[in-house]
Amino acid sequence: MQLYGKTLKTLKTIVAAIDAEPDATRAMQAVVHQLKADLPDYTWVGIYLLYGNELVLGPFEGKPSPHTHIPLGRGICGAAAAEKATIIVDDVHADPRYLACSLDTQSEIVVPIMDDGNVLGEIDVDSDRPAAFGEADRELLEHVAACLATRLRESSWPA
Ligand code: SME
Repeated sequence: MQLYGKTLKTLKTIVAAIDAEPDATRAMQAVVHQLKADLPDYTWVGIYLLYGNELVLGPFEGKPSPHTHIPLGRGICGAAAAEKATIIVDDVHADPRYLACSLDTQSEIVVPIMDDGNVLGEIDVDSDRPAAFGEADRELLEHVAACLATRLRESSWPA
């Protein structure tokens, strides 16, 4: 699938922002901000970073989450990191792995940020709409994750 229209514009804006920001933290903040600003279904957007066997919440926009530290293998976030693969959940209430962040959340996508086979972190997006995420979202977020991985590597992340 090819990205087009507004989604392609969002990707181009984000790629430019990742390059332009002075450090990796600012680049991650810019990604989170632009995704939430451009895409109405993206109710909560955050980036988790992997430290050892634990995902630690970094920049995010949306309501504060109780899940600031998630062990590998726990929740949808921990599953995506353990499997090193994107996970899309159409109905979070039907998924026994789901760790609730907001009662309003209905669907979720988690995309690992990978560097040469290693997980650096992941992009997590929640939506208040059921089945909000499809192949265009996967493609967009996997492109963004690849660009972020390059930026994090250049910054020698984790420092
Ligand atoms: N729902 C996630 C936890 C993180 S919150 O959505 C911000 C999970 O099941 O891993």
